Amino acid sequence: MTSFLWGARFDAPPDAQLIDFASSFRDDLAIAAFDIRASRAHVLVLERAQVVSSGEACTLDNALVTVGRELADRSFDGDATFEDIHSAIEARVSELAGAEVGGKLHSGRSRNDQVATAIALFARDGLGGVASDAAGLAVEFLDAADRELTAESLMPGTTHCQPAQPILIAFWLHAAGVGVARQIRRLDVMRDSMNRCPLGAAALAGSSLPLDRRLAAAVLDFTAGPSENALDSVGDRDMVLDTLYACSTLLVHLSRVAAELIAWCSPLVGFVRLSDDAATGSSIMPHKRNPDTFELVRAKAASVAALLTSVFAQLKGLPISYHRDLQESKRALIAGLAETQVSVRAFRRAFSSISFDRARCNAAVVDPFVCSTDLAERMILGGVPFRAAHAAVGGRIKTAEAAGAPLCGDDGAPLDPLSSVRAKATLGSTNPSLLRQAILATRISLLPSLAEAALYKEETQ
Ligand code: ARG
Repeated sequence: MTSFLWGARFDAPPDAQLIDFASSFRDDLAIAAFDIRASRAHVLVLERAQVVSSGEACTLDNALVTVGRELADRSFDGDATFEDIHSAIEARVSELAGAEVGGKLHSGRSRNDQVATAIALFARDGLGGVASDAAGLAVEFLDAADRELTAESLMPGTTHCQPAQPILIAFWLHAAGVGVARQIRRLDVMRDSMNRCPLGAAALAGSSLPLDRRLAAAVLDFTAGPSENALDSVGDRDMVLDTLYACSTLLVHLSRVAAELIAWCSPLVGFVRLSDDAATGSSIMPHKRNPDTFELVRAKAASVAALLTSVFAQLKGLPISYHRDLQESKRALIAGLAETQVSVRAFRRAFSSISFDRARCNAAVVDPFVCSTDLAERMILGGVPFRAAHAAVGGRIKTAEAAGAPLCGDDGAPLDPLSSVRAKATLGSTNPSLLRQAILATRISLLPSLAEAALYKEETQ
């Protein structure tokens, strides 16, 4: 099957090598279902405009449903000689509905508005899916946090990778979860911003057919209605940037959590143990147990950020309106969402298989000086100006260090890390009871995404 789209004006068919180079058909299979949805909405609009009769609308709609099913079960695989999935679907509809009726489907639309609509729908769906997966991962962090909170297990909190102050392991886990919850909000904001429907913008200037763009927008759930300007609309790829930005930011966060877990899995640190089914061995060193999943997620963050950068580079300086360059951004969108989805799922799987070595973590907090700030703060409460307290504690550390002794409180006993975390009084601190409330608040903030995830699961089962 070859492209029939622009036949009459041309004496020769397109060169096979060039069509092969230019076709996005294979990548486009990911967005096929969204083109079908948008095309069905277009049929409704054509019927309302009396461009097609009710009977013809019915024939077109049935054909679209059939093509959708054929694409899903791969019984219609199209043909990579099509420039894209949009032309392939239209051709197949014409085969099914006959050229007379099928030939009416493209009235008043262009692939320019068609592709913009399909990728906006695809991006919204993809963002919702990633948010659902991320919510599951966040809950995993919070469940682990609750377990460690009950055990009141401690670890050295660090800055610059240096022991800084004692924290609860639960506090670190909550930090990882809060970061994911923040990313979920960003995913939701980006999804909600894709609320104007490009369909009906046609090639660039709109159509002279009386198409009810509000109807298309409503049917496709674009809550703000039709896009405001056809010329802007056919070239707008903000939805691609927004999606890739939100995905990159999520993965960058996970890459940072991964970096810490990777270090902790090393026997040199030994805070964390990865179970056998999530660890990787070495082909030469029999003793190795490597945290490859976390390393790969760390690298995927770079890959998705690179896709975002590639789209920035494609768009920069591109005149407004449609240009074929934009096709390449579609590919970045599809790949970026897919990479993000598999990364979040793999991270969750690997994370669910780790355990903290509490004894080792607790033992690491026995660094003699990690409670120095508590000592200084105690002096402040006794009326000593902070700078003077800092200097006094610094002096005591110097003496203790020279004597190889721990830093002691005024009672002469070494400072206790558990008392340190319990003494914290500020919101968002590592204080156990404040942390318990904070974990609960984060859980509550995730409820809408979890409810949506459950619905989504039901729908796709
Ligand atoms: N194949 C293009 C894409 O998938 C859409 C084609 C629009 N082509 C055109 N000549 N206006 O992005």
